[in-house]
Amino acid sequence: MSTLSLHTPSPADLPEPAAADPERRRWLLATGCGGALGAAALAVPFTQTLAPSERAKALGAGVQVALGDIPPGGLKTVEWRGKPVWVLHRTPEMLAALQRDDANLADPQSKRDAQPDTLRNAGRSERPEWLVAIGVCTHLGCSPSFLPVGSGNPAVDANWAGGFFCPCHGSTFDLAGRVFKNKPAPTNLEVPPHRFLSDDTLFIGTET
Ligand code: FES
Repeated sequence: MSTLSLHTPSPADLPEPAAADPERRRWLLATGCGGALGAAALAVPFTQTLAPSERAKALGAGVQVALGDIPPGGLKTVEWRGKPVWVLHRTPEMLAALQRDDANLADPQSKRDAQPDTLRNAGRSERPEWLVAIGVCTHLGCSPSFLPVGSGNPAVDANWAGGFFCPCHGSTFDLAGRVFKNKPAPTNLEVPPHRFLSDDTLFIGTET
């Protein structure tokens, strides 16, 4: 398992809204690199593409995540199948905030298939205190930022209860990864298949 980062963001860490180009720039660069890699792959003889590479096998594997070092309110990001996956340790206050904004959410009951069927609940989780979500915006694939309550970020209003903000085109998501209405992102953030091996260990990759 590769752990990308572990932090409890403070307002000082938070990005500027809208024109927060570093994320957008990184994404555009990544897209460009992906295109170059795709072109290079065309040169590989067909027979060599039949056997999955070690890297491909690794990308398909699940990852174990230690939960003991994520404090309440903290967020850990791990890599799974080449994507960032957030593991957010929700506090009782965060869970209470989930009840507040239903009328302003595009799909508050998560009726669209953006999570395993067993997690089609308001918190989109098996254990309420843990949100596991893929940190990729469902609009065009930028990486949203975590904005806790009281961030003071002008991209969100003064009543912001905490959640995620995508700097590319301004989509906002609540603390269950549910997208707010009238935003470019069409669906809630994706929740990957996962299960708890114990109180301290999460497995991302399969539900059983
Ligand atoms: S990529 Fe997130 S709002 Fe467009």
